[in-house]
Amino acid sequence: MSGSGQLPLRDYLRSRRDEVEQALARVLPPEAGRLATIRDAMRYSLLAGGKRLRPVLALTAAETVAPADREAAALAMPAACAIEMIHTYSLIHDDLPAMDNDSMRRGKPTLHVVYGDGLAILAGDGLLAEAFALLARDPDDTGRPELAARKLAAIRRIADAAGARGMVGGQAIDLQAVGHTVGPEALDADGLKDMHARKTGALIRAATVAGAIMAGAPPARVAAVDRYAEWLGLAFQIVDDVLDVEGAGEDLGKTAGKDAAAGKPTYPSLFGLGASKRMAQEAADAAVAALAETELDRSRLAEIAQWVVSRTS
Ligand code: IPE
Ligand code: IPE
Ligand code: MG
Ligand code: MG
Ligand code: MG
Repeated sequence: MSGSGQLPLRDYLRSRRDEVEQALARVLPPEAGRLATIRDAMRYSLLAGGKRLRPVLALTAAETVAPADREAAALAMPAACAIEMIHTYSLIHDDLPAMDNDSMRRGKPTLHVVYGDGLAILAGDGLLAEAFALLARDPDDTGRPELAARKLAAIRRIADAAGARGMVGGQAIDLQAVGHTVGPEALDADGLKDMHARKTGALIRAATVAGAIMAGAPPARVAAVDRYAEWLGLAFQIVDDVLDVEGAGEDLGKTAGKDAAAGKPTYPSLFGLGASKRMAQEAADAAVAALAETELDRSRLAEIAQWVVSRTS
């Protein structure tokens, strides 16, 4: 596991991503025989690239809260991979015809376009279940009760974030809100923020917090990175909404312009583009301010917050 040193952020992110790619490929090896197809479907989406923001956040949080512990990022790697598996499952289901009906993801045809809806549903289910199997299994806590306790805390946090009060809940609100950008059923500012906090923020928060927990961070530091990631998650989804309006499909690896076409409530639809960009920057600034409480505001996590608002993909 390489340390962060003083690498420029771009190089740091690339090296962390490479580590995550290798770990993900090991976590989900191909299967032979009758299980080959479902496993290939899971690998098609999981190993299709993507920014790997959530696993990188888990690793960066771990080494930020425990800089002297050379083991910290390695301890966080299984949680990092598990969250990327859950995130990938959420994308596979998000793209299904019954949800956003998208045909491109991570620069490739979506899973259901290639394997059919049934296998896409099952591949998502498989990734979700295997994520928790991984969390329970690794890192090995034999003879290390403190590690077993950290794992349990991380599992609880990740399960909550994935469930009906987290990502699944936010996705349900999103589905119910389609077509209601104006009128009495439209989400107001608080409703939109709440939807974003759940559908996207929850997993980003859980990734960061799980990394800190696995590194054995004291409660005050876990709380600080939690507040950081809450703001970061909001900034991230506001930028996702903005890029859906302004971004290019080739950069995004997914179809642009689909939120307006589908009648989705988004930051640009409610506040306009200029205000949305300002709100994303304010959210990123608030994320960094939360780190200042425990003097982590000059860390990689702060750099990542700025990267989230300036990204184009
Ligand atoms: C897309 O997430 C879906 C949202 C939650 C906004 P990402 O933009 O992180 O997608 P990948 O992982 O890089 O493909
Ligand atoms: C998706 O939000 C959030 C998820 C939980 C997957 P979007 O529907 O805006 O994500 P994209 O734009 O399709 O990646
Ligand atoms: Mg969606
Ligand atoms: Mg979508
Ligand atoms: Mg979007």
